[in-house]
Amino acid sequence: MMIAKPRAEAPEVIGRTSGPRAHHFRGSLGRYATGVAIVTFDGVTKRHGITVNSFTSVSMEPPLVLVSIARTTKAHDELAGRPFTVNILGAEQRQLAMHFAGVPGPEPRWVEGETAPRLSGVLAYFECKPWAEYDGGDHTLYLGEVVDFNYRNGDALAFANSTFTTIPESQLGMEDLL
Ligand SMILES: Cc1cc2nc3c(=O)[nH]c(=O)nc-3n(C[C@H](O)[C@H](O)[C@H](O)COP(=O)(O)O)c2cc1C
Repeated sequence: MMIAKPRAEAPEVIGRTSGPRAHHFRGSLGRYATGVAIVTFDGVTKRHGITVNSFTSVSMEPPLVLVSIARTTKAHDELAGRPFTVNILGAEQRQLAMHFAGVPGPEPRWVEGETAPRLSGVLAYFECKPWAEYDGGDHTLYLGEVVDFNYRNGDALAFANSTFTTIPESQLGMEDLL
């Protein structure tokens, strides 16, 4: 059996990531394909939404999910201690993803949730009560306890190598795996 050797020219990725190394770090991270989500919540004076791909499931019992939010964002400080919804986007919702990433588009349609607002027409959503917050360097990791959730059928929006792409529902086949 052939065992692949690490590439001799594999770049050193341990240590700080500024300049070209940051570019390379981002490029390496970009090889990990993700979905696209929007975290929505009511802040002190206004309703917030922020596009993220750092969403991950954490625990089944209790049901916990995580998002990683940059300290530089407007959403960051206001999210602390507040209920939030993670809205998972469908293939046709790229414009919505960009709207909440600083490129304004048509005004989104909101739905009042039990504890936090959410967006109309998303592929799935997880409404969360705040569970814990952890230091994540220049980000903060926000864990939420899921109190309500649902999904619809449809193609998924995905993100890889800084590019949006689509995963057709026909290729998801999730019910067979679980
Ligand atoms: C596909 C995609 C994924 C993103 N993922 C994250 C993320 O996981 N965490 C984060 O803090 N920002 C992420 N961003 C950037 C924020 O959406 C962007 O900085 C946003 O404008 C911040 O909004 P705010 O400053 O109004 O809160 C992502 C942007 C895009 C387009």
